[in-house]
Parts: sequence; structure tokens; C-alpha cells
Amino acid sequence: MPNRVRTAVFPVAGLGTRFLPATKAMPKEMLTVVDRPLIQYAVDEAREAGIEHFVFVTGRNKGVIEDHFDRQFELEQTLEARGRTEALAELQKDLPSAGQSSFTRQQEPLGLGHAVWCARELVGNQPFALLLPDMVFRARPGVLKQMMQTYEETGGNIIGVEEVDPKDVSSYGIVARGEGPDSGFRITGMVEKPRTEDAPSNLFISGRYILQPEIFALLSEQTRGAGGEIQLTDAMQILIRQQDFTGVKYHGKVFDCGSKLGFLAANVIFALDRPDLAEPFRRAISDAVLGVSDGM
Ligand code: G1P
Repeated sequence: MPNRVRTAVFPVAGLGTRFLPATKAMPKEMLTVVDRPLIQYAVDEAREAGIEHFVFVTGRNKGVIEDHFDRQFELEQTLEARGRTEALAELQKDLPSAGQSSFTRQQEPLGLGHAVWCARELVGNQPFALLLPDMVFRARPGVLKQMMQTYEETGGNIIGVEEVDPKDVSSYGIVARGEGPDSGFRITGMVEKPRTEDAPSNLFISGRYILQPEIFALLSEQTRGAGGEIQLTDAMQILIRQQDFTGVKYHGKVFDCGSKLGFLAANVIFALDRPDLAEPFRRAISDAVLGVSDGM
């Protein structure tokens, strides 16, 4: 049995410039899909996969993320006084337990690889999950849980992948696929943000990883890659010479909420998935669309 994965890292230091002005004073991870912040989806997914320690790599102006995962006594008392017991129970369910969260800061925006490296002391010498909160999944069970099932058989490093339109490969990390089924195939190489003609496949790294701690030593070399940033993909491409990397083409679909289109699509699809909203939302949208096309 491989070492159990107990810790998850959430890089939440990004500036969110693609969502200005919404993200001028508010972290992009607090943008909501329907009524839950992006970061809450990632934490829920990690929890479902058995994670017990939640490590947030934050930056300046990210204090409300820490507040979001804390109790809010005034709010709790008010809900209680008003008899809103269901809302109160929902709020409490979302929280990691006392002592399960850790926060550290990425002091400079030097890239995803550097953000992960900033978590090294909190993670220590054990495997860990990495979840990029911009990426929100419609998947059951959750993507990290599906990857854990593979990890229990293979150990090593696991990367969740999904197909992307070949014209969009240059926005992502892309893997080269070796032998094995969708539930666990050998990854033979990977490249960060390739041009379409250089991409080894159309399988993109969609923001969920299980990694071995040896990655930290490679990240500490801090070589700059695509976009002048310290890239996680480049460190993994070196580690692959010494350790197994297994790809999981999971059941489900990602919404890239780091882009406006992905974010808007996620809001529509997640609202349509909600029993309390699906019907009235469908009606509101079709009325609105008809109204607009009628020039009203
Ligand atoms: C990062 C990773 C990339 C991955 C992507 C998923 O890129 O470097 O490999 O495909 O996240 O969102 P970024 O979005 O930070 O440019």
C-alpha cells in the first residue's frame, strides 16, 4: 500500500487580473459559482477524497479566505435566533475542523511551481494532493477521489487529465500518453503551454495532482520556464525520469473558472444541477433571452 495522502495544497495567491475589477479588493477564489466560492468547491472535493490537512498558499489581500474557513459567531447566533437551523448546519459543514488548516504566503508571484514550493515546510516528507481552485469539476465521485482510487493501486504521482480542443492546448500543461486504460495510464512526458503543432496529445492537466515530496527539491532549483515563471510542469518533467507518473482521464468535466467563459458556463450548469433552482432558472433564462432578442 502506498503512503496515504492526508494533506492537500491550494495555491490561492494569484492576482486574478482576468476578472478585474471584481478582483481588485476580493480574491478571485471567492468568486461564486451559484452561491459557493470557488475555493469551497476545491476544499469539498479534497475532503470527499479523505484529506485531513488543508494547506493554503496565499498572498496579499487574501485574508478573507482565512476568514471564510473560520467560525463567524455573530452570524451563527443570528441564524440560530431566527431559527435558520438548516442554513446554520450547512455553514458548519463547510468548515475544516479546528487545527486542520494551515496558511503560508507566496511573497512574490513567481509562478505555480514557486507557489507549491512555498508549501514544502507545511507538507513535509509525505505525498500530497494539489488542487487549483480555478478549476471546478462536475464529477461524481469528485475528481480527486477518482484519482485516489488509482493511487491506491499504483502509488507514485498521479495527474488528472481531460481532452481539450487542439487549438486551446497552448493555455495548459499537456501530457504524452503511454500504455494503460483511462483509469490509469503511464505518462511518458509533459510540456507546459505548447504550440498546437508541438503538443504531444490533446490531454491537458486540469488542475488536480497527487505528488511525491521529491518534487520540492526540484522546485527549489527554481528554473524559469514558459512565461518566465517557475513552472510545476517543468519540475514534474524532470521527476518523471525517477518516478512513475500515472494519468487519470476521469469521469466528469472541468470548468475553467479562471476564464470568463468557463466561469459563466459553470454558473449556468451548476444552477441547472440544483433541484431548488433548475426549473425557475431555466424559465428566467429563456424569458430573458427571448426578451433580449425581441429588442426589449
Ligand atoms: C497551470 C498549470 C498547467 C495547467 C493549468 C490548469 O497553468 O501550469 O499545467 O494545465 O494550471 O489550470 P496556469 O493556469 O497557472 O497558467
